[in-house]
Amino acid sequence: MNQRTKDHDIQVNLGHRSYPINIQTGVIDRIAEVASEVVSGKHVVVVTDSHVGPIYLQRVVGGFQAIAKRVDHITVDAGEKSKCVSTCDELWQRIDDFNTDRHSVIVALGGGVVGDLAGFIAASYARGLNFLQIPTSLLAQVDSSVGGKVGINLPKSKNMVGAFWQPKQVLIDPSVLNTLDDANYIAGMAEVIKYGLIMDQSLFEFLEANVEAIKSRDLEVLSKIISWCCQCKANVVEEDETESSGRRAILNYGHTYGHAIESVFGYGKYLHGQAISIGMECAARLAKELGMVDQEFCDRQTKLFKAVALPTDCPEEKHDALLAAMMRDKKVVGGVLKFILPTRIGHVELVDSPGADAILRSLQNI
Ligand SMILES: NC(=O)c1ccc[n+]([C@@H]2O[C@H](COP(=O)([O-])OP(=O)(O)OC[C@H]3O[C@@H](n4cnc5c(N)ncnc54)[C@H](O)[C@@H]3O)[C@@H](O)[C@H]2O)c1
Repeated sequence: MNQRTKDHDIQVNLGHRSYPINIQTGVIDRIAEVASEVVSGKHVVVVTDSHVGPIYLQRVVGGFQAIAKRVDHITVDAGEKSKCVSTCDELWQRIDDFNTDRHSVIVALGGGVVGDLAGFIAASYARGLNFLQIPTSLLAQVDSSVGGKVGINLPKSKNMVGAFWQPKQVLIDPSVLNTLDDANYIAGMAEVIKYGLIMDQSLFEFLEANVEAIKSRDLEVLSKIISWCCQCKANVVEEDETESSGRRAILNYGHTYGHAIESVFGYGKYLHGQAISIGMECAARLAKELGMVDQEFCDRQTKLFKAVALPTDCPEEKHDALLAAMMRDKKVVGGVLKFILPTRIGHVELVDSPGADAILRSLQNI
């Protein structure tokens, strides 16, 4: 089990791959103090994107310059489209030009796209470099920066090329969420609500009771939510780091549908969190058809999504293409698709797919 220490810090316990998650308001301006163990005297390459860079890169580079041997930086285009082979190719070339060696440290400064991309570069260049996550979107702070899944998309298959590569440290500053746009802030709430649905009823109830504070981005409530979610994720990852026992698969509630929506409608048309909230709605309908949950469960889930302005309706077209995309999911084993489906608020189970007709029905909004 992980431990919470001062300032909501959390330790992810994975033997020699263990690392701290430091959740502190203002930590982005205290990098020299907080990250010295990982970075002191090293060559650092900060990877960021074209939205986050102009706001935070200078401060972050300044912090690292106080303790690192040398600091280089690269800015990629913001958005899901950068999580691709051609951006990787460019990044490998650029860090090669920086004379990066096995002692260099890659820093991901940005949302989940930068974290997954820079993490994959760290995992693959020179057979693996240390890396540090500074997540700046809500989704990245509560989910993608923790747990070591890194990777990129293929044109038809989301997150298909990647690795398990744990960061050495995660630095989370909840105050940077002030500059995140509404759509991405709300999309991040999908993953927050997901933790409540899959494993923590009291988190779900806390969210239900704090909708107004969530909407106004109350920093105290947000810090509590971020640390709560990181703790949930750390617990799951500690139990099943590489998704081999099946426990980690619970984090994919709604994702089989969501990834299909993202890939069929084009990466970027739906934000990841939006696709996932729609996906959780489809999964809840499927669970109801299978007799695993009742209508009250579905209504309560829908109500919270709607309260925070997350989308709940599945697109009404391309259902055959969605089904085909789902069959390409990484959770297809021996031709059988597996679904994470709820049994109650705070609990989900891994079940074999009931067949194409039931899946197609679950795509239909009632
Ligand atoms: N590795 C994992 O375990 C895991 C888990 C969940 C999701 N993901 C991946 O995460 C990605 C989605 O992440 P995301 O939603 O963070 O998308 P993102 O990285 O595209 O960030 C969303 C947008 O917000 C901007 N942004 C981020 N932080 C900002 C800030 N503080 N101020 C202003 N703008 C800011 C970004 O530039 C971008 O335009 C997807 O590719 C998804 O597959 C990975």
